[in-house]
Amino acid sequence: MGNESSTPVDDAVPPTTLHGRTIEAVARYIEEKDVHNIVVMTGAGISTSAGIPDFRSPETGLYANLARLNLPYAEAVFDISYFRTNPLPFYALAHELFPGKYRPTVTHAFISLLHKKGKLLQLFTQNIDCLEREAGVPGEKIVEAHGSFATQRCIECHTEYPDDKMKEMVMNKEVPHCVRKSCDGLVKPDIVFFGEALPEAFHQKRGLPARADLAIVMGTSLTVQPFASLPSFVREETPRVLINLERVGSFGSRPDDVLLLGDCDEGVRKFADALGWRDELEELWDSTNPNKDTKKKQQEPPKTRQEALDDEVEKLTRDIDASLKLSSQANERIRSELEKPSSTVTSDSQSPPNSVTRDEVTSDKVTTQAATDLVHVFPHLKEDRSDKPSL
Ligand code: OAD
Repeated sequence: MGNESSTPVDDAVPPTTLHGRTIEAVARYIEEKDVHNIVVMTGAGISTSAGIPDFRSPETGLYANLARLNLPYAEAVFDISYFRTNPLPFYALAHELFPGKYRPTVTHAFISLLHKKGKLLQLFTQNIDCLEREAGVPGEKIVEAHGSFATQRCIECHTEYPDDKMKEMVMNKEVPHCVRKSCDGLVKPDIVFFGEALPEAFHQKRGLPARADLAIVMGTSLTVQPFASLPSFVREETPRVLINLERVGSFGSRPDDVLLLGDCDEGVRKFADALGWRDELEELWDSTNPNKDTKKKQQEPPKTRQEALDDEVEKLTRDIDASLKLSSQANERIRSELEKPSSTVTSDSQSPPNSVTRDEVTSDKVTTQAATDLVHVFPHLKEDRSDKPSL
């Protein structure tokens, strides 16, 4: 993590740049100083209202739910050495997260609006869902620090794999292999796994926070390095805004830190109100709704955010459980063919990664309770056995 103290600043200490530690004061600062070098840093929390679970929320987070499955540890789904031995859990997840299935949130629209107003210097995102692009933020303004589904290649010989083929494979729940028959290595989207280097663009642009007039951090636990250090590169006198369910990193330790603790869609609406941009924001967000003209959509009562998240988490864990069981069965079969005693699912299933190039997870590792039968945890698995996916 960064080297700042994380002790919250005393409320009696006056801010040095802002008129006050409120979002209204930040809006005034943007107007008065004609701020147009805003750096935005985001994580999974900005996509939860689209129905995509985040990673570390205690109940609905992906890792808490994966921890109940038979993975060696929850993060294994994004671990390159685990992927080499068992790519199925990742591809079950990829099937769900593949771009095109979700609509950008109001928060994505807010970032797009910052760009349209000529105020966005750079967006750094940890997300792989590509929703910023869908909301209209141009590619050159985005650093996808943990990669994305936009391109893919063989993990052995690095030969690129065609986009259309990739989509077909993921949609059919199949694992793609290298187009070069002689290689036949596994293909993986250019998402940065534990144990892999971050994209070049991250290293080229990681100096930008130091040039910012304002930093906005939203929907991230700031637990994964080196991304988590970016807010500490912002100059001491530059205001930093955190819009998140919880206080994270060193936020609150500087005189010009402004914390909006709560839902980020609500937070950006409040921000837009203060800037007098609310109508434009809602209009822009509305334009990202693919069903806005269909009557069907109007007849269906919209799901609440919690219902949408619960559905998604349930489906993800069911799919991954199915793929793990299949791969476990395949492993068993091979083992018995080789007349070896069965032991664990994979050779590297004992411990979490300890040499991580992308990620030093600075929070506690999620521990795993290997479960052989999940019906007691997820009762829906009992009813749904017949339509389990064939990944
Ligand atoms: P986390 O799940 O670690 O953190 C999400 C943060 O968003 C938490 O602090 C939540 O409290 C907050 N949050 C959730 N919903 C919110 C909402 N509606 N409004 C406001 N805040 C909300 O996700 P990241 O920080 O993005 O790697 O995780 C970093 C990396 O860890 C990810 O990029 C991922 C994982 O390993 C890959 O995808 C490859």
